[in-house]
Amino acid sequence: MKIAVLGYGTVGSGVVEVIKRNYDNIAKRAREEIDVKYVLDLREFPGDPVMDVLVHDFPTIVNDPEVKVIVEVMGGVEPAYTFVKEALLKGKSVCTSNKELVAKHGAELLEIARQLNVNFLFEASVGGGIPIIRPLNQSLTADEIEEITGILNGTTNYILSKMKDEGMEFEDALKEAQEKGYAEKNPAADVEGYDACRKIAILTSLAYGMQVQYEEIPTEGITKITATDIRYADALGGSIKLFGTSKKVQDKVYAYVAPKIIGHKHPLYSVNGVFNAILVRGNVLGDVMFYGSGAGKLPTASAVVSDVIDAAKHQNVNIMQLWSSKKLNLEATKTLKNQFFVRVAAKEKEKAEKLFDIAEFVTLGGQEDEFAFLTESMMEEDFEEAAKQLTVINSIRAEM
Ligand code: HSE
Repeated sequence: MKIAVLGYGTVGSGVVEVIKRNYDNIAKRAREEIDVKYVLDLREFPGDPVMDVLVHDFPTIVNDPEVKVIVEVMGGVEPAYTFVKEALLKGKSVCTSNKELVAKHGAELLEIARQLNVNFLFEASVGGGIPIIRPLNQSLTADEIEEITGILNGTTNYILSKMKDEGMEFEDALKEAQEKGYAEKNPAADVEGYDACRKIAILTSLAYGMQVQYEEIPTEGITKITATDIRYADALGGSIKLFGTSKKVQDKVYAYVAPKIIGHKHPLYSVNGVFNAILVRGNVLGDVMFYGSGAGKLPTASAVVSDVIDAAKHQNVNIMQLWSSKKLNLEATKTLKNQFFVRVAAKEKEKAEKLFDIAEFVTLGGQEDEFAFLTESMMEEDFEEAAKQLTVINSIRAEM
């Protein structure tokens, strides 16, 4: 089977490498040999064997009837969307790692694939190499999904781990993440939570079979977390992580991205560094957890190539994926219940005690002009109302 790869960046070169390295095993599983006929990129790569298959124009690829599967690993919505749509309409299956594309146009592209009896597959778009899309579509189908909560962004988890382990401030840890090549070109996509937002939008759309508009997901990143917050979390026996969460409570679905302090008994407590992990709660299965490399050349390529193999095994058969274009109306998070960690000016202790049901107080050496406390579980809107009456230095959701 001939395939084409759009984009010869980190993931694209990884896909070519994985297909070459595991050629025989892939052929066994796909029931035929898989060869890269074209790689599309605007650049030249002198000295790289990819030059033998490199092309600079998409029509050469999309009009070649021999090409059955197109791998889209360019990233960004355009021109990826135009290319992918045209490929599907021409009867080719598409495998992508592009979370922006999937979050925005997933429902439409899946519908085109269904109508044309081809496949639109996107295992690598969430959690990099971790299998999570296929489990949601094919393994956890007997359950009603009650909750998905994940550490979906490796860069922010790396930054938070560095801040915890080495007492670094956010800016210094970000600089180190950029030097190591973890943070993407625009750090805002990672540190402001936009990347995690697109990923939880995809998982929520798949879990409930409807389109979640990612623009409607309340999204908070980690830029306001300081080294002092991390020391307080330590003192409480907790750890701060950035979570993408969706929850179904009766018939209401909530989704949000926010940092949270979790206690050492939480299943995601030990997920550190660039690793990702996703906890899924089913109403009959209970909890199931997925852990692994959420980014990087070969782990991401591994997930993309697994989709190519699936596409090879399902030629002229559409793999059913439940995700219609019907809009899923998210419930406002103000009625969600959470614990809160709050830092307040020292003189307001009595006032805080009157306003909140407090689970625990915590003080830090060197921070005499303030104190912190952990609330019992309360509604977000009640928290906002009470917090307005105090001089809050910082507040973070918590699950201790
Ligand atoms: N910037 C992303 C991360 C890459 O840090 O997890 C994978 O989507």
